[in-house]
Amino acid sequence: MTLGEREILGLAYLSFEVSDLAAWDRLLVETIGLERGKDAPDGALTYRLDENAARFFLKEGRADDLVALGFEVASDEALSRLLARLELANVRSKVLPGAPRFAETRMEILEPGGLPIELIAGADRLDPPKLPLVPGGFKTGDFGLGHIALRARSLEESRRFFEELLDFGLSDRIECELLGGYHVDIAFLHANRRHHTVALGEGLPKAIVHFMLETRTLEDLGRIYDRAFDHGVRVTKTLGQHPNDRMLGFYALTPSGIQFEIGHGGVEIDERRWEPSLYHEVSIFGHRSPRSYRDVHSR
Ligand SMILES: [Fe+2]
Repeated sequence: MTLGEREILGLAYLSFEVSDLAAWDRLLVETIGLERGKDAPDGALTYRLDENAARFFLKEGRADDLVALGFEVASDEALSRLLARLELANVRSKVLPGAPRFAETRMEILEPGGLPIELIAGADRLDPPKLPLVPGGFKTGDFGLGHIALRARSLEESRRFFEELLDFGLSDRIECELLGGYHVDIAFLHANRRHHTVALGEGLPKAIVHFMLETRTLEDLGRIYDRAFDHGVRVTKTLGQHPNDRMLGFYALTPSGIQFEIGHGGVEIDERRWEPSLYHEVSIFGHRSPRSYRDVHSR
């Protein structure tokens, strides 16, 4: 595979089944600052943060997990090429009827962890939304929606699927031991110039560990951070920086127990020069549990 031939452009959307729709709505609109979109034809609530008609789909249900994700493919021809490669590897695809995701073509495949991946060509685009709480907007466009950390049943099998079949590139890996003896072994994969669109790790309780949205300005990251505390959203990792994507960001909990990361300033991949590295720490600084500060200050 050479430069410019990648079929998948990036992450298009995330679809969650959640037990508390109202709390998710408050988080996405009032804390993170997204705009409610038109309800999807299947009744899902949708949320916008750029020209795409919808970037988040929420349906009420008990999974409290990611139930599907969408990757945007460059064209119908690119989709055919991709599906032919998948078929050769015995990965079945099926056509999804209707257009509940505001996209013309929609095929579904299953990744090795069992999560449905929808491959879409021709996503509907509208006038950009008004985002008064995030005036600088989010970094999307050619970089896709953001990134996601997914559960791999077998890291080796999932890496083969994403790298060899979907043509993601390896950005780097982090392998280390955290306090408490927790072994971290994560592979970071890119589909475009965003440092990673997908991160994969084993031994995780839900299909998704976290999703990340990147603000264009540092100020907007800071404002969302403030609002998380103001609105009682549980911040799980304070502002910090990862050694590999150099993203400055924080993590907090959604009402489904899945984390989200809001970041700013992640590095961009130039494939002509990029060499994957192995890192032995998750953070350069920060990413502390707020509880650790409380304990120190209440002594
Ligand atoms: Fe992340």
